[in-house]
Parts: sequence; C-alpha cells; structure tokens
Amino acid sequence: KKQIKVAIDGPAGAGKSTIAKAVAQRLGIFYVDTGAMYRAIALKTLRSSIPIDREEEVGQMVQKTEIVLEHSEARRVFCDGKDVTVAIRNPEVSRAVSKIAAYPIVRERLVQLQRQEAERGAVIMDGRDIGTVVLPQADLKIFLTASPEERAYRRWLELRNSGKELSLAEVQHDMENRDKQDSEREVAPLVPAEDALILDTTGLSIEKIVDQIITLTAQL
Ligand code: C5P
Repeated sequence: KKQIKVAIDGPAGAGKSTIAKAVAQRLGIFYVDTGAMYRAIALKTLRSSIPIDREEEVGQMVQKTEIVLEHSEARRVFCDGKDVTVAIRNPEVSRAVSKIAAYPIVRERLVQLQRQEAERGAVIMDGRDIGTVVLPQADLKIFLTASPEERAYRRWLELRNSGKELSLAEVQHDMENRDKQDSEREVAPLVPAEDALILDTTGLSIEKIVDQIITLTAQL
C-alpha cells in the first residue's frame, strides 16, 4: 500500500492541528505538528540568555538542540530531554515564535527533522510551508483558512480551556501580528502551494472537514 503524505498549511487558528490529528487517527497514520518544533526553539531561546534578535546565536543553539515529538496518544514534546508540551503553548512563546521561524538556519535544521519524520511512513503534517517546502511531493495539499474573527475566537476558547484568560482582542491582535510576520518573511512564507486545495472552514464543523479530507485521501 502506498504511504500517503498529506500536507496541511494555513494561518493560526484555522483548525489545522485539530483536523490533522483527527484525520491521522481515522486513517491510522502519523501526525507531525511542525509548529511545536518552532515553538520549542522559541521557548528554549526565551529561557536562555540569548536575545531573540541574535540570529547567529539562536542558529548556533538550534544546532545543539534535540527535539522529539512523541507519537503516542499524549503527543508530548521534548526539548533536550525536557517535557515542554505545556510550556510551548504559552502566549509569550506564541509572540516570540515567528521571529525565530524567520531565521533560515532555524528553518533548515527543522525542515531536515520534519523530512526525517515523514520517512517513518504514511503521515499528515501541519504547518506553514509543508506543501511548498517540506513535502513538495505530498499526495494531498490542503490550505485551511477561516475568517480572522473565527480564528481568534477559536484560539481564545482554546486558551481559556487551558486556564489562560486573555481578552479576545488581545488574542486577535497577537494572531494578526504572527500571521503578518509568517506571511511576509523571505524564507518559506505562509502561502498556499500552487497545487493546494483551499478550504475555508468558517462556520464549518470539524467533523465535516475531516470527512472531506478522508474522502479526498480515499481517491488517491
Ligand atoms: O502551528 P503553530 O501555530 O503552533 O506554529 C507556531 C509558529 O511556528 C508559526 O506562527 C510560525 O511562525 C512557525 N511555523 C513555521 N513553519 C511551520 C510551522 C510553524 O514557520 N511549518
């Protein structure tokens, strides 16, 4: 049987990880959250004495960093052996991550790691540049979007459910900043691949989109 590769890209809060996880579970394939890797590097930088704008020093640090994504149900994320699963979701990390994600050296190292993960077998991977850079030969490329209001609301709910009380305006502001940086960077900006299918998830249920993606993979 063919080991399918599915790429899911899109802006923050479009539902990528929720949808990708559900598809992975239904198809019994691997799920790789590439954003978690960038977040782990951002967290490590924030916890270090390296100022986030020192590209070269951040780059040197990345070479010496080990990131492991667990593939079991818990999907824990480890950075240099430390469990950072919860910490990488902090708003401070969300605010810093796009800065380090724009550094070519950081991307080079993480893309290498992501391609290794894809070698494991059938996989669905989500991020910003999966269809354009990481897996340009993917069998199916989906670009998920939703209205900015809905994306901010979803992220606000997610944060609230994990005990973080931010205002909706604050969440929307952070998200706009992050998307702007991700879209405008020179290396691997957030853009749909030419052969990506663009799905607007505004007002749609997760189940509907998951079903649609499953149907698409069945046609491969
Ligand atoms: O997916 P998530 O929102 O957790 O990603 C966090 C950040 O990591 C993004 O805003 C982006 O700056 C960076 N990222 C990236 N390329 C990817 C995945 C994430 O630049 N493939």
